Amino acid sequence: MKKFFTTLIVCIVLSNLSFAQTQADTLRRMAWFEEAKLGIFIHWGIYAVDGISESWSFYNNYLPYDQYMKQCKGFKAQNYDPQAWVKLIKESGARYTVITSKHHDGVALWDTRAGNLSVKKSTPARRDVLTPFCNAVRQAGLKLGLYYSLLDWSHTDYPNWTRTTTRYAIKDDTLRWQRFVDFNSKQLAELSERYNPDLFWFDGDWEQTAQDWHAADLVGQLRKANPDVVINSRIQGYGDYATPEQGVPTQRPKDRWWELCMTMNDSWGYQPHDTNFKTPHMLLRTFVDCLSMGGNMLLDIGPRADGSIPEEEIAILKEFGRWTSKHAEAIYQTRAGIPTQFFQGYTTLSPDKSTLYLYLPYRPGDNTIEIKGLINKVNRVWVVGNGTMLPYKVYNKNYWSEVPGNLYITVPENVLDEQITVLAVLLDGPIKLYAGAGQVISSN
Ligand code: GLC
Repeated sequence: MKKFFTTLIVCIVLSNLSFAQTQADTLRRMAWFEEAKLGIFIHWGIYAVDGISESWSFYNNYLPYDQYMKQCKGFKAQNYDPQAWVKLIKESGARYTVITSKHHDGVALWDTRAGNLSVKKSTPARRDVLTPFCNAVRQAGLKLGLYYSLLDWSHTDYPNWTRTTTRYAIKDDTLRWQRFVDFNSKQLAELSERYNPDLFWFDGDWEQTAQDWHAADLVGQLRKANPDVVINSRIQGYGDYATPEQGVPTQRPKDRWWELCMTMNDSWGYQPHDTNFKTPHMLLRTFVDCLSMGGNMLLDIGPRADGSIPEEEIAILKEFGRWTSKHAEAIYQTRAGIPTQFFQGYTTLSPDKSTLYLYLPYRPGDNTIEIKGLINKVNRVWVVGNGTMLPYKVYNKNYWSEVPGNLYITVPENVLDEQITVLAVLLDGPIKLYAGAGQVISSN
């Protein structure tokens, strides 16, 4: 009996230790991601030739598969300048980038030995276009992310082909499915051996279960090659962080780490007819919205088939660059901000929680902004990236009440940024907020 209990206690202690170790590993692995805040997503593939939707256009039967694949003939990449791409990405203030090494159509951007479909073997570009990009990313000191579609609608051993055609059912031919699983594992081994990415960005997991994908084995394989590799959520529950897509969350997501991926217009890849671009202001606003909720933003570009980047996208990246370099202090080292009932807008905090950053995407009425419920004493308020000290004053603070009153900060016109003005409020210590509902006057 005694022996049983001793063994039980030893087991509990050991499992707690290994749990703590796993947690420590995760924190270490996610450290760069947490402070990177902005990433640039790149959707580049044969779909840019006719400017139609990436892979989905044939899957959804908008055009026949063969016609979709004919785009291979037009993928020349003749003006492709990976150094220039990376320079632009770095200039935008992004700290990482994620490129589609292979989308759902199965066309690999690198010279894969696992199969025959790649821009090297199947297009007039006739070369591996991924390697020079990865090299340039490394040289620039950015973190490298590789998007990889687990599903491959072109692969003859993959069950699904289009919305209306399947090749076979996994349960009817497990050997054939195993061939596909081995193919994925080989391609992933190539990617991790050749490029040792900091991040794998999976996609397309929804078509099969974790068990069928052999998700645990794949993650194990990648972590064996690089224990610190970050993995997104789209691998049926095995990833490190959540990836909401397009829709900006309206409340802080439950996951500790998350990243909103978003297009500049309505398309991931190059589609010249899609001119529905958001303005730099709208996109920056979404970016600070993500920061406010403790998340990252992965902003997408879709280069043309010749390798050039559309002018609208260049302009957005440059405006991001101007804004992020001016406001770096209020971006990379921040944590999620305070609830909006205290400040009607976007906020973040410094890691020690003693500096509150306020983001103003508008001109404040009466040149003032208001914070409610702030218990701390304010030591100083300044305009980030400009340095001007701003006057502030607390109103409605009564000695007999615990309600902290309303802090008003004066923001003159001449300190406003053309997109989003940022203020830093230095507090006397970690932020403390009053959450009560007020007090009745009992003596005056
Ligand atoms: C989707 C789509 C895909 C796109 C991706 C980006 O899941 O399948 O076309 O690449 O989202 O997040």
